[in-house]
Amino acid sequence: MSEWRPDSWQSKPAAQQVSYPDQEKLKAVTAEMGRLPPLVTSWEIEALKAQLAKASRGEAFVLQGGDCAESFDECSSASIAGKLKILLQMSLVLVHGSHRPVVRIGRIAGQYAKPRSTDFETREGVTLPAYRGDNVNRPGFSEAERRPDPDLLLRGYERAALTLNFIRSLVDGGFADIQHPEYWNTAFAKDAKHAAEYERIVDAIRESLRFTRAVTGTDFSDLRRIDFYTSHEGLSLHYEEAQTQRVPRREGHYDLSTHFPWIGMRTAQLDGAHVEFFRGIRNPMAIKIGAAMTEEWLTQLLEALNPQREPGRITLIHRVGAEKVSEVLPRFIEWVDRTKHPVLWVCDPMHGNTETTADGIKTRRFEKILHEVEAALDVHQRMGTVQGGVHFELTGENVTECIGGASGIDAADLKRDYRTKVDPRLNCDQALEMALLIASRARRSR
Ligand code: PEP
Ligand code: CO
Repeated sequence: MSEWRPDSWQSKPAAQQVSYPDQEKLKAVTAEMGRLPPLVTSWEIEALKAQLAKASRGEAFVLQGGDCAESFDECSSASIAGKLKILLQMSLVLVHGSHRPVVRIGRIAGQYAKPRSTDFETREGVTLPAYRGDNVNRPGFSEAERRPDPDLLLRGYERAALTLNFIRSLVDGGFADIQHPEYWNTAFAKDAKHAAEYERIVDAIRESLRFTRAVTGTDFSDLRRIDFYTSHEGLSLHYEEAQTQRVPRREGHYDLSTHFPWIGMRTAQLDGAHVEFFRGIRNPMAIKIGAAMTEEWLTQLLEALNPQREPGRITLIHRVGAEKVSEVLPRFIEWVDRTKHPVLWVCDPMHGNTETTADGIKTRRFEKILHEVEAALDVHQRMGTVQGGVHFELTGENVTECIGGASGIDAADLKRDYRTKVDPRLNCDQALEMALLIASRARRSR
């Protein structure tokens, strides 16, 4: 393979990229981003890699979640705190059920660029470029709004910095303190049964902390803060390249825009620009894999992206749908076993279960999402391998985007508070219920 540089991807075919009409502005913007301070540090990235290696051995469990696409407009205190709260609540429930530490990773602080199945959108005879996320263009349907604008990369970087700054302050200030879970209580709208179950778990944890403090004198001050990591799809390579650099006293380059970038399957071509970029960075990374993945492709991806077979470096996020997972996942596992590559298996039960209602609304059913997670757990249990985590699209607010769950959202309710610009998310009731059901399943198989 030829020599790698942060910009060596530029000589390869790049899928899902936009062509910027103003190349001079693009250069100026990416140069400016390269001068600004990074969003994350290499030691956080290496710490996460070690956590992911543990999860791949069954010593920890990964909870990854957040918006399908973050929007610049929703970069607000309520929206960020809401996502942090629901992830904290879910992780508490999962720790309690699985007796494993939970690694919390947001789809946050950079999830601004989206792959699209078609380059253009036509409405009433007018054809314009598709909306590709707030980093690239705007969702409104006019020529000006759909024109790719390099300035949005910089705006995205700034929004990511603001988001991360707020998360870090909350976490450092004690918001995530397990001794004060009331700080992160969310207003569960409808689902009284699961809210009560959650309260019971919180009480049980409080009680055992009190007991241990009384018996051992431990002050639990190290429980005041937690680790929280960020992730996004590394789709816009201009954005990623601009924040990729060497750091003192470490080998190689780090992509300092996020801890944990992932490659979507639409951009995972072996000879493509994304694989070229990702192979050269030291971050842990995920690859999204769907039913069209082949053994040869997957094997070559693992070889290209992790030739040293470093534990924790590669996570495979499978998203094949509730109907196919029992048939397809065992094949994936067998292929990877043959390569002897260490990988972390994470189930994304969202992207294989998207459907459109009779009224044309994109949605997902709670039951199918749960089914895909449970079927994946069954497969790993049967094969003696490790289900190391789950990946959700969710929000801390009580939107109505997915059907089902105990709060009883049906197709007719979807219009009430449907906000996502891309994929439907679990709301906070549905997300907590999902965590409780996964935790109770984990408790049974412990
Ligand atoms: C996503 O994670 O929002 C996404 C687009 O997923 P996938 O590439 O797996 O369809
Ligand atoms: Co999505």
